[in-house]
Amino acid sequence: LRWVLGALSVAMAEKARYRRVERAHALGLRGFRHASHAMLYAPSDEMLFGRIPVRYAVLMQMRFDGTLGFPGGFLDPGEACLEDGLNRELQEEMGCNVRLTEADYLCSHVCQHPRPIVNHLYARKLTLAELQALEVSAVQARDHGGEVLGMVRVPLYTLRGGRGGLPTFLRNRFIGNARDQLLYALRKLGIMTPGELQAAEDASRAH
Ligand code: GTP
Ligand code: MN
Ligand code: MN
Ligand code: MN
Ligand code: MN
Ligand code: MN
Repeated sequence: LRWVLGALSVAMAEKARYRRVERAHALGLRGFRHASHAMLYAPSDEMLFGRIPVRYAVLMQMRFDGTLGFPGGFLDPGEACLEDGLNRELQEEMGCNVRLTEADYLCSHVCQHPRPIVNHLYARKLTLAELQALEVSAVQARDHGGEVLGMVRVPLYTLRGGRGGLPTFLRNRFIGNARDQLLYALRKLGIMTPGELQAAEDASRAH
């Protein structure tokens, strides 16, 4: 039994489990650190190689630890609400002056191990010009070159071989449940259909 419990705790330490909870429940949790991150995205009629529709520019970032995640971070002590912390982090990490509000809230996920954390995700639709301006300001941001190694766009298409594009992108390492947040947001916002997402996930696993 001791061996089983030991193996179990190792497995739990390795793979943190996230559970989706309602916003009101998440906000009432005591003893948890709250973090909020944002998916900034813009419709795009650009064509890759003149023939593959890009559809949307969706922003994530390469983090200092080599994983991919969304811009954002921990709520600091003294901050009145999640949105205040989120907007400060967006400023630090991308020089972003866009102010997100409760209207941009998407979902919350709770994790107990290895540390009690609640992750809140927001999403804001921008114009492609606004998003491009943010990509430019991001390299001048305070945390660029430190916490943040660069912004990246998520490929939403799948190339002819059936793997290149989103399936291959999903094989990267993601911080926390950022991968699930990405898939959830793409579906919830109607950017991709459940069928398209399932196909990309299947192709991602089949590598
Ligand atoms: P510091 O200022 O150095 O504390 O970093 P930060 O405030 O920018 O925090 P960070 O963005 O690293 O997010 C805080 C925690 O949330 C991380 O330790 C991860 O566990 C988790 N996290 C980071 N990015 C994401 C993300 O995109 N999605 C999810 N779900 N979790 C994330
Ligand atoms: Mn080229
Ligand atoms: Mn930060
Ligand atoms: Mn951060
Ligand atoms: Mn921070
Ligand atoms: Mn910081």
